[in-house]
Formats: sequence, C-alpha cells, structure tokens
Amino acid sequence: LLFAQNFFKHPMMLGSIIPSSRFLIDSLLAEVDFSQARTFVEYGPGVGSFTAELLRRMHPDARLTAFELNTDFVEHLRARLPDPRLRVVAGSAANVQAELGAGARADVVISGIPFSTMPPEVRDAVLDATRDCLSPSGALLVYQFSRAVRPHLERRFAQVHERFIPLNILPARFWACRR
Ligand SMILES: C[S@@+](CC[C@H](N)C(=O)[O-])C[C@H]1O[C@@H](n2cnc3c(N)ncnc32)[C@H](O)[C@@H]1O
Repeated sequence: LLFAQNFFKHPMMLGSIIPSSRFLIDSLLAEVDFSQARTFVEYGPGVGSFTAELLRRMHPDARLTAFELNTDFVEHLRARLPDPRLRVVAGSAANVQAELGAGARADVVISGIPFSTMPPEVRDAVLDATRDCLSPSGALLVYQFSRAVRPHLERRFAQVHERFIPLNILPARFWACRR
C-alpha cells in the first residue's frame, strides 16, 4: 500500500505501481556469489523487496549501503530492517563513491531506479559513478521494464548479459554488467 500510494505521488521516480516479484528477485540474485561478495550497494530499494532478501543471503561480515530518494521509503526501511549490516542513505545513487568512501570498491551493485524516466544527466552520473566504484570482478545488476538503458550500459561495461523475466508485473528485464 505504501508503495502504491507513493507511485501516485511520484510516478516517474518509482516507475512501477507494485514491488518486484519473487521470480525477478530470485533470478537476479542467482547472479551473485554470496560466499565471496562483501560490499553490496542497492539503488532504489523502495519498500525493501530486494533488500530483505539480500540481507537474508549476505555473509555476516558483508555490508549493504542502500540509496533511496523517497523519505517515506527511507523511514519504512530503517524501521522494517534494523540489521547492523544495512545502511540506508537518504539520497541519490549518484553519490555512491562519496558514501562508500574514497577508493572503496563495491562487489555487487543492484539497481532498480527507473533510468528511462530520469533526466539523462542523472542517468549518466549514476552509471559513470557505478562503473568507477565497482571492483574489477564486481557486477552491476540492473532491472527495468524498458530496454532503453541497454546502450548506456554497453557503452560503459565490457560484458552486458540480458535476461527476460515474464513472471513479473510488468514483465521485466535485467542486465548483468561486468567491467
Ligand atoms: C521501481 S522502484 C524499485 C522498488 C524496489 N527496489 C522493488 O524492487 O520493488 C524505484 C525506486 O527508485 C527510487 N529512486 C529513483 N531515482 C533514484 C535515485 N537517483 N537514487 C536513489 N533512489 C532513486 C524511487 O524512489 C523508488 O523507490
């Protein structure tokens, strides 16, 4: 309900009226080696569908920094998921390097922010910052309803693998991007 209410207030910022399905979450997280990854980042956690599952699967020493612009969702996440491994940043994904700390690298970045409806300069700032903060073996996992982001991923990442997930409302795609 919180998610749907916020969709009507900020449709372009959310990009969807309901949270991601179990099928999308499981398919995308199958790309992650949870035994190795320690530094996780999430963009646009919303009400925490991916966040809760990440925390469930993450190593006890791993850390997750989640960036969310919507303050209703920030408050909800902090109350719903009081896990010491999670830090919810009330701000834009474009600030990823500053929040991780100078020189820090991410092993996994999961992005649900709607790249096709945000201003192109914000999209480019987020994707450039993400490429620059990924560890050499790290992965950016992007899920979207639109394919419009694909050329922007291909311009920045050597490997971009696409998967289509029909069992989601709306049917979604994700891209696993590696440097
Ligand atoms: C489609 S919702 C994803 C929700 C959730 N991750 C899920 O799978 O159900 C997109 C979210 O991205 C957030 N968002 C949009 N632009 C953002 C940005 N530049 N930085 C951080 N969060 C952003 C919105 O507030 C919204 O919560």
